[in-house]
Amino acid sequence: MVTPDWYPDEVAHAGDEHLEPDYVLNYDRKAGFVDPTADLDVLSRFGLDGTQTVVDLGAGTGVFAMAVAPRCRRVVAVDVSAPMLRSLEGEAERRGITNIEPVQAGFLTYQHTGDPPDVVFSRNALHHLPDFWKALALSRIALMLRPGGILRLHDLVYDFDPADVGAAIEPWLAGAAPTPQVGWTRAEYETHLREEHSTFTWLLEPMLERIGFTIRDRTISPNGIYASYTCARTGQGNDRDVSRWSSGMIVAADKP
Ligand SMILES: C[S@@+](CC[C@H](N)C(=O)[O-])C[C@H]1O[C@@H](n2cnc3c(N)ncnc32)[C@H](O)[C@@H]1O
Repeated sequence: MVTPDWYPDEVAHAGDEHLEPDYVLNYDRKAGFVDPTADLDVLSRFGLDGTQTVVDLGAGTGVFAMAVAPRCRRVVAVDVSAPMLRSLEGEAERRGITNIEPVQAGFLTYQHTGDPPDVVFSRNALHHLPDFWKALALSRIALMLRPGGILRLHDLVYDFDPADVGAAIEPWLAGAAPTPQVGWTRAEYETHLREEHSTFTWLLEPMLERIGFTIRDRTISPNGIYASYTCARTGQGNDRDVSRWSSGMIVAADKP
């Protein structure tokens, strides 16, 4: 998809490490085992029954995509990183999973084809975009989802006030992994703080609502650094703006 010159290059902002084959090879070990059971349970409660289309944005090595594949009809695994998608494809083939479609694209460029997705999932990827672009990405998701469709979103999101930043961040840094092979180190967390775009819960939540999502559930980690949301594209709130924003965006984005 052709985007205007003023759009960001999503690959350039994807985190250099996500583009490095060696890093990707070790990614799942480093990320630790992420049990998808809770996500599958939540999505089942919201109607996942084997017939749906699920889009995973920023799918990485495909841990979630592969877990949800047996529970739905079609999974589109979207990521800007070619090495991530190669890893995902190889593992899906190894496991004999045939209903995952890897697509190299980003939040701002993925163009869905076929039936509108019932579920959009995104884990630990939206923070690659600054807030202005998060809003555009989320409104593209709202436009893509079928009415009533579900956005399940996990990310590093800060649930504290600026005045409490030291009290919240320092214990998080102190609990970092000792080496990059076994988890995220203090240096990597510091890079995240400096160079990536995790935002505050009290900015992200009104953003979701303004775009036309209703937050159905919200879980914040005890340290206030990580948030999970289940949002329904309900067509309430200020979503009168979604079609206007989105059609404006798509026209602009499609312009050669
Ligand atoms: C920390 S990893 C998370 C991967 C996976 N969702 C997981 O939970 O294991 C972030 C992923 O987002 C991808 N990514 C970064 N920026 C992106 C963008 N603008 N659009 C789509 N994917 C992006 C990276 O390539 C990487 O695979």
